[in-house]
Amino acid sequence: MPLLSVQSLKTEFHGRRGIARAVDDVSFDIEPGEIFGIVGESGCGKSATCRSILKLFGGADARIAGGSITLDGVGDLVALPEKRMGDVRGSKVSFIFQDPLTALNPTMRVGRQIAEIVMRHSKASRKEAGQRALELLRDVKVTSPERRLMAYPHELSGGLRQRVVIAMALALQPPLIIADEPTTALDVTVQDQILRLLLERRDRTGTAIILVTHDLGVVAEVCDRVAVMYGGQIVETGSTDQVLQGAAHPYTRALLAALPSAAMRGRSLTPIEGIPPSLIAPPPGCRFAPRCAHAHDACRAARPALAPREGSTPGHLDACILERGT
Ligand SMILES: Nc1ncnc2c1ncn2[C@@H]1O[C@H](COP(=O)(O)OP(=O)(O)OP(=O)(O)O)[C@@H](O)[C@H]1O
Ligand SMILES: [Mg+2]
Repeated sequence: MPLLSVQSLKTEFHGRRGIARAVDDVSFDIEPGEIFGIVGESGCGKSATCRSILKLFGGADARIAGGSITLDGVGDLVALPEKRMGDVRGSKVSFIFQDPLTALNPTMRVGRQIAEIVMRHSKASRKEAGQRALELLRDVKVTSPERRLMAYPHELSGGLRQRVVIAMALALQPPLIIADEPTTALDVTVQDQILRLLLERRDRTGTAIILVTHDLGVVAEVCDRVAVMYGGQIVETGSTDQVLQGAAHPYTRALLAALPSAAMRGRSLTPIEGIPPSLIAPPPGCRFAPRCAHAHDACRAARPALAPREGSTPGHLDACILERGT
């Protein structure tokens, strides 16, 4: 039984220019303790997928138009009333977004912010919660944690703020953490430290992590499995080795080809030629066909299913009807 099972998820944003189908029939499972990467160009639906799981759209006019998101022990989150969803966030699924400042209250000392999370979900007294906040800051390797507890967010560096956000995400020991580009805003050394912290956490407590990144080097280093998204859909998924070493989909191959082979790390995805599809009026058939050097009429006629191809190893799926290597 997977920890999380996302099936045929569809999420729409309603805007003045029309309905953007940001997540269009996306399915994947996450096992307990697994680090699952989601990669793809800007605007392909990575954050929309994460936000759907949390049902937090930051005020945007978004709605889940179909599918299910089943969390072990909770049930289908899509159908869950907002009140119960509030209990799930933090205790069952917590999140770390790109910009730690948006996750923190600028007017409250960070120790108090962590303590409040602990108190909201447990019977801990203020004193116990304060003690727990201190332990959590130690856990995420904040130096001089006693002093940092008393700081306001703006008094901390970006890296420290992100550690505080991680401490908050870990406070209730959720089985799943969603980290949407948690290191993009940080410099490279700090990025490494934060990633190591997440890895260590998984190894120690078995927390599963969904890690959204632009960086295939990060995927290679920390992810067990990965999904490559394009135009609101998953075009390839499998173990990190299957996808990075044996890429089958022309889009994945294009992403990899655009990277210098030796040092993948620290490079954002180099844009490949052409522009991503409109999610308001996507092309029929394969969404990558207009940019694909190998596309022919059949590619433009019907959407290819995400499926194993002949001879592929178990768990490796891609959505291309062409033979591998063409
Ligand atoms: N607030 C919004 N209002 C309207 N449409 C939105 C909004 N946020 C996202 N979208 C639509 O959803 C699509 C997917 O956006 P999403 O934020 O999931 O992309 P992403 O893959 O996370 O990109 P990035 O790498 O830039 O973070 C966008 O291309 C856009 O069409
Ligand atoms: Mg995003």
